[in-house]
Amino acid sequence: MRKKAILLLPLLVITLIGARRRAAIPPPGPTFNLEVVRILQQNCQSCHHPDDIAPFSLMTYADAVLYADAMKYMTQIGKMPPWKAAAGCGDFVGTRSLSQSDIDTIARWVDGGTPEGNAADLPAPRTFDGGWPAGKPDVILAMPKAFTPPADVDEYRCFSIPGDSTKEMQVTMVDFRPGDRGTVHHIVPYLDTTGASAKLDTNGNGYQCFGGPGLDTATALGAWTPGARPTPLPEGTAVRIPKGARVVMQVHYHPHFGRVAPDQTQIGLYLTTAPVQKQLHYDFIINDQFVIRAGDHDAKVDAYGAADTTIDVVSVYPHMHLLGTKTKVEAKLADGTTVCMIDVPQYDFNWQGQYVYKTPLHIAAGGVIHVESHFDNSTANGHNPNSPPRDVRWGEQTTDEMCLALIGYTRADGR
Ligand code: HEC
Repeated sequence: MRKKAILLLPLLVITLIGARRRAAIPPPGPTFNLEVVRILQQNCQSCHHPDDIAPFSLMTYADAVLYADAMKYMTQIGKMPPWKAAAGCGDFVGTRSLSQSDIDTIARWVDGGTPEGNAADLPAPRTFDGGWPAGKPDVILAMPKAFTPPADVDEYRCFSIPGDSTKEMQVTMVDFRPGDRGTVHHIVPYLDTTGASAKLDTNGNGYQCFGGPGLDTATALGAWTPGARPTPLPEGTAVRIPKGARVVMQVHYHPHFGRVAPDQTQIGLYLTTAPVQKQLHYDFIINDQFVIRAGDHDAKVDAYGAADTTIDVVSVYPHMHLLGTKTKVEAKLADGTTVCMIDVPQYDFNWQGQYVYKTPLHIAAGGVIHVESHFDNSTANGHNPNSPPRDVRWGEQTTDEMCLALIGYTRADGR
C-alpha cells in the first residue's frame, strides 16, 4: 500500500506541471462558456432574448460582453433579475433571485476581463418557442384583426373574442403575447357569458372602454403587464370558461414618444382535462373614493374587502399608477391574527404583476383583506405625470390613480 502511494505522488506532480505548461493562459476565474452562460440561461434569457420584453439579448458571448459592466452592477444592486415582492411576506411561485455566489461569479468574470473560455464547455443554447415561454398554448384567442391606436393619447380598447362554442374550457394558465410591445401597456381579459360584448364590438375593431369592459356581468380572468410571466394555477384548480362564452380583451395602449404601430395581441390558454376540484375566481379590492393632494409626498390610501365565505387565496396583484411608491396587502383573520400577503416596498409601474402563492392562503369567513398604498404627488417624484402636480383621483388614465388589489381565490365548497 505504502509503496504505491509514494510511486503515485511524483507522477501526479509531473502531470500537473505538464498541464500547466500546455494551457496557453490558465483561466484566472469564471469563463462565459463554463459558468456565466449557465447563470444567464437560468435567470436572464427568459426575457433577454430577441423579441421579448428586455431591450437587448443576453444569448451569446458577444451579447453579454457588450453589457458586462451593467450586468455586474444590476445584479449587485438586486435590480436584475427583476422581482418586486419583498422577501419574508408571501411565498410565491417563480420568485426571481440570484444566489450570492452567482452574483459574485458574474462580478469575478467581469473583473477578470470577461474571458470566453473553452468552446467545449458551452452548453446547448436555450430555445424559445415562437415567443410563448411556457410552450404553445392549447387555445390562442387573438384580436380578429390588427388595430392601430392613436399616437397622442392613451387608448383603452376592448375586443370581444369568441371562446369555444362546442364545449367549456378549464384553464390552468393564461399567457399573453402583445402584438406591439412598444405600445401595449397592459391587458386585462374578462369573461362575458351573455354575449353582450359582441354587440359593442361589431366589426372587430374593438370599442373604447374605461375601467372595465362596459358590461354588467363580466369578471376578470387575470392580468398581464410588462414583466409578468405565465404562472400555472395550483394542481386541481382551474378557471372555467363556459361553452359559448366570449373573452373580452381590454388593452391599454400607451403611445411612446408619439410612435404607434399596428397591434394584434394574443391570449394563450393552457387547458386541463383532468378533474377540477376547485374553480378559481377573481375579485378586486378597491378604493375609488380618494383624493391625493398636489404636493403630498406620502399620501396613504386604504382599501378593504371582507371574505363573506371561507376562501383560499391563490394569487394577488396589487396595482397603482405612476404616483405609487409602495403597497402592502395584509389579511386580518377572524381569529385576530394578521398575515402579510405581499409587500412591494419599491413599487414600479413597469414591474407590476400577478403573484401566485406556493401554498394558497386560507381565509375563513369574516377575514378582511387590507390594501395599503402610498403615493408621492410631489415634484420630487420623477414619474409624476402632472407638471405641476395637481390633485389626483381614481381614474383610468395613466395620469389618474388607482388603489386596488386583484385577488384570485377558490371557495371552500370548490364552486
Ligand atoms: C422578467 C424579465 C427579465 C429578467 C428575468 C431579467 N431581465 Fe434584465 N431587463 C429586463 C427589462 C425589461 C429591462 C429594461 C429595463 C427595465 O424595464 O427595468 C432589463 C434591463 C437590464 C439591464 C440594463 C439596465 C440598464 O438600465 O442599463 C441589464 C444590465 C440587465 N437587464 C441584466 C439582466 C441580468 C444579468 C439578468 C439575469 C441575472 C436579467 N437582466 C434578468 C427584463 C429582465
